[in-house]
Amino acid sequence: MKLTIDILRQKDSASAPYKQTIELDARSDDTVATLLNTINARDDLKDINGEPVGTIHWQCSCLQKKCGACAMRINGDPALACDTKLSACKRGKLSLEPLRKFPTVRDLIVDRSLMMDNLRTIHNWLEQSAHHTGKAADLCYDASRCIQCGCCLEVCPNFMPDGDFYGAAAFVPASRILSQLPKGKKYDLVKAYGKHIYSGCGKSLSCHDICPVGIDIEHKLSNSNAVAVWKRLFK
Ligand code: SF4
Ligand code: SF4
Ligand code: FES
Repeated sequence: MKLTIDILRQKDSASAPYKQTIELDARSDDTVATLLNTINARDDLKDINGEPVGTIHWQCSCLQKKCGACAMRINGDPALACDTKLSACKRGKLSLEPLRKFPTVRDLIVDRSLMMDNLRTIHNWLEQSAHHTGKAADLCYDASRCIQCGCCLEVCPNFMPDGDFYGAAAFVPASRILSQLPKGKKYDLVKAYGKHIYSGCGKSLSCHDICPVGIDIEHKLSNSNAVAVWKRLFK
């Protein structure tokens, strides 16, 4: 297939972004990740203005939907490059941009350390042995599949990088810990949940269908709200 690829590039975190357009033949059953590797393997490639393309900087590790490193905006929506086939491109057009809610490091690479910082801030860990019931096992398993890609934050109208609301990338992992907390103690996670998740989520569910690994985000939100807020308010 003939493909016109618009890539939003940036030399470093301090530079202004610019668009580069490339035209080439590609295989429709290749992924965006394969395409980027193919482009980077060519040192003769020129853009539509005759300028050299050079290396397009992007991140990957697993190429199997397991690490989240290759998350970027593909044709306007956040997605994983290793999980997006070129056959999804309409009219032979592909646009690639870095995620917008995180600082750009270079080209399609962003700094997502904020998500890990937020998990630390809400104390998202167990301090003693887990209380693991059969009922919670399915929820824990599903929540543990979160790869911290940040796609859910990209579409969330309430998440701002410098804001107090931490979004689904925080409440999905939190739902797992909350479901295992032993009873009878005040937990920092429960307190932080109210401030950084419950009070900031508008329940718009824009994040509902976006998770590339298919986590049921709405289910995790309702369960963690129930454990961290409702059961404590009404008991
Ligand atoms: S329900 Fe809406 S506000 Fe809450 S995390 Fe999802 S997109 Fe964001
Ligand atoms: S919940 Fe899904 S979309 Fe959000 S960070 Fe985790 S894996 Fe990515
Ligand atoms: S490279 Fe790991 S999820 Fe795409």
